[in-house]
Amino acid sequence: MISLNIEKTLGFISKENVFAYEAQVKAAQEALENGTGKGNDFLGWLHLPSSITKEHLADLKTTAQTLRDNCEVVVVAGIGGSYLGARAVIEALSNSFTWLQDKKTAPVILYAGHNIGEDYLYELTEYLKDKKFGVINISKSGTTTETALAFRLLKKQCEDQRGKDMAKKVIVAITDAKKGAARVTADNEGYKSFIIPDNVGGRFSVLTPVGLLPIAIAGFDIEKLVAGAVAMEKACGKDVPFAENPAAIYAATRNELYKNGKKIEILVNYNPKLHYVSEWWKQLYGESEGKDNKGVFPVAGEFSEELHSVGQFIQDGSPIMFETFLDVKKQNASLIVEPDEKEDYFDYLDGKDFWEINKAAYHATVTAHSKKLPCMTFELDELDAYHFGQLFYFFQFACYLSCKIMGVNPFDQPGVEAYKKWMFEALGK
Ligand code: PA5
Repeated sequence: MISLNIEKTLGFISKENVFAYEAQVKAAQEALENGTGKGNDFLGWLHLPSSITKEHLADLKTTAQTLRDNCEVVVVAGIGGSYLGARAVIEALSNSFTWLQDKKTAPVILYAGHNIGEDYLYELTEYLKDKKFGVINISKSGTTTETALAFRLLKKQCEDQRGKDMAKKVIVAITDAKKGAARVTADNEGYKSFIIPDNVGGRFSVLTPVGLLPIAIAGFDIEKLVAGAVAMEKACGKDVPFAENPAAIYAATRNELYKNGKKIEILVNYNPKLHYVSEWWKQLYGESEGKDNKGVFPVAGEFSEELHSVGQFIQDGSPIMFETFLDVKKQNASLIVEPDEKEDYFDYLDGKDFWEINKAAYHATVTAHSKKLPCMTFELDELDAYHFGQLFYFFQFACYLSCKIMGVNPFDQPGVEAYKKWMFEALGK
């Protein structure tokens, strides 16, 4: 299981004060189980993992196989909660250079609908020109401008290149059961479609088809992913004591740090493959907690790279943040530093594994930064689908608790509407 260590926050806050949140956490858990409290029509994620049926997984796997059989490339069109979770898993578990290799074991997964940059979309459509590609159109509301525009573009290109019949086979919709443009198009065109349950909000939807279908197409084990989430659902259960519930400890600690002036949390990794894990986490916490003039601002730390940029600020600048280090215990690849013919400054590293050197950098950073700032560490046993299931459920549950302690509704996003109003006005909607 995921383990959390808060020892290196304790020079800054006390354990007693962290444990003082126990009653609030218990009340939040009761509200969750009883379906009461603000946003109580969005609690479908709570028992989602344990309610996923074999039939549902089989349906997803059959659809995934159809796309795997008929596509060299699958474009996932979605934004925010409608794509980040899938991308986090796919980029972490895939070979970083797979898409440049000639022999591929799964379609290359590309993304659209998460921006309206003309360069990105133009270059994507150019790249797809000679490719057998399919599209997954993911939008809960079915009204999101970025996704709807990208889908319109890709649908036409797919039909033009592959013909209407094949397009119908390789375009899939994941959306609301009844509402929105994505639903209307899917029904009119006869696309295979999956439903995002009403009571599961976008950023809590990675364990619905939103995350599961693209992950299955990329070739990763969605049964194991769900099994990991089920294990974490149990570990966060209402009868688990506060001290043994990692999500409760995490939520309480970050609230206590916030109360003590730490307004920024940096989620740190030492593996570039985890970039989109941080992006998913940033969206979950930023959109859930940042409202009513409250919230811990979530940022990512991509180390050791950023130790050579913002590392200076973290160690030596305004002490406004705390750090949460995400560490994976099991070594994946092995690469040894071979001795060089000529002596140089790096001979002391001869024979060492890059894994060991990276770990040394990690432990050294925790030691150095914790002299200045509170640091928490998360340990994940292994980077695989099962542990991703755990990680997703863990962060969702902790996010709910953290918002409740902070006194905000985790499930709305009123601030997102402000820019849209001005954009729609400028575009004459
Ligand atoms: O968490 C959320 O609700 C948002 O981030 C949504 O996922 C995002 O805005 C995309 O919305 P939709 O799926 O309706 O296109």
